[in-house]
Amino acid sequence: MHNEIERILISEEEIQDKCREIGEELSKEYEDRFPLAICVLKGAMPFMSDLVKRMDIHLEMDFMDVSSYAGMRSTGEVKIEKDLDTQVEGRDLLIIEDIIDSGRTLSYLVDLFKYRKANSIKIVTLLDKPAGRNADIKADTIGFEVPDEFVVGYGLDYNEKYRNLPYIGVLKPEIYGGEDN
Ligand code: PRP
Ligand code: MN
Ligand code: MG
Repeated sequence: MHNEIERILISEEEIQDKCREIGEELSKEYEDRFPLAICVLKGAMPFMSDLVKRMDIHLEMDFMDVSSYAGMRSTGEVKIEKDLDTQVEGRDLLIIEDIIDSGRTLSYLVDLFKYRKANSIKIVTLLDKPAGRNADIKADTIGFEVPDEFVVGYGLDYNEKYRNLPYIGVLKPEIYGGEDN
């Protein structure tokens, strides 16, 4: 699997340090607030898992699955595949994402949670790819900015593979056929 990676963009250690840093910040900010941390499946699973372990406060976790991509190209549509089990009305939400690319997924979720009357909404993303942006959305907390390349690992997939890499890497073009991302 590792030989399919052209180069490591963000190492395991850098990711873990960042989780600790963001976790400490959020712990201060949300002390006494019992936020609802929402993991956007499947990509955000590793980040959510590591981040919540660095948050030294009471919080609740829930999981939501929406789809917006068909293969490598976005269809521009967002569909709920699995909704939350939790009522968001009056809650302080932390939306946990692995990456913001076009911004469509998050823009849809933010609108949905506003409509459901959340008390507050904070977007926490490990990666931001500003070059891909299409919807008017900005994260409140960003781990790392990434270039416009095909990045995989630590939750990010190509055809469902590579999510279990402990680092973020750039896929070799021969693996994805050199297709534009
Ligand atoms: C990926 C990624 C983000 C989203 C970002 O998820 O994990 O959730 O796309 O793209 P956007 O900003 O253009 O909306 P995907 O829909 O591929 O599902 P996955 O998390 O299950 O891989
Ligand atoms: Mn995702
Ligand atoms: Mg995906």
